[in-house]
Amino acid sequence: MNKKAFIFDLDGVIVDTAKYHFMAWQKIAQELGIEFTPEHNEDLKGVSRVRSLDIILELGKINASQEYKNKWLIQKNEDYLSYLVNMDQSEILPGVLPILQFLKEKNQAIALGSASKNARPILEKTGIIHYFDAIVDGNDVTKAKPDPEVFLEAAKLLNVAPENAIVFEDSIAGIQAANVANMTSVGIGEETILYEAKYIFKNFMYMDTSFIETMIKK
Ligand code: BG6
Ligand code: MG
Repeated sequence: MNKKAFIFDLDGVIVDTAKYHFMAWQKIAQELGIEFTPEHNEDLKGVSRVRSLDIILELGKINASQEYKNKWLIQKNEDYLSYLVNMDQSEILPGVLPILQFLKEKNQAIALGSASKNARPILEKTGIIHYFDAIVDGNDVTKAKPDPEVFLEAAKLLNVAPENAIVFEDSIAGIQAANVANMTSVGIGEETILYEAKYIFKNFMYMDTSFIETMIKK
């Protein structure tokens, strides 16, 4: 049995922050008169802050100077952070803690693989940072998902071959990144959106420990 790495995305997988990213972007889109729906938002999930703004501007066919872009990027992050001020354990998505606990009991390597530059403070606020043997976030990588850099880096830090890594993701870009990396992709969300994933669960409440056992023995 080879050593495995269990790599978790953050936003929308571990914590319920995907809605806050959406709210903050929607505010900017509204100010710019751009229609920005939950369907459009699927393309922003897992994607870096800078790329997300570009996607919104492309949607509105807006050509903006770097100065304006920087202003919106700062505004988005300030709004986003304002939603997180009172964040605590209650923001952890259902079923996540038991799975983290189970992986720890089974002595499995756990990593975070997130595009977010706010990942560490979020893990601290929610009191779960100690579960992670490695953390790779938006501050550590240059290429955004669907590029596999973030996951490859996480597996490398854990000394695990990519084919022995299991990735939990709620975004299309993240599933594609895991697949390109030759890792086992596990979609957390809707099958209609995450159909490229090897396995799909609506949320962690639908995943029992026997699935994890199978992954460990694989
Ligand atoms: C990803 C989110 O995890 O992080 C994206 O899915 C977000 O929506 C990206 O844009 C970057 O996050 P942050 O916190 O650095 O703006
Ligand atoms: Mg996500």
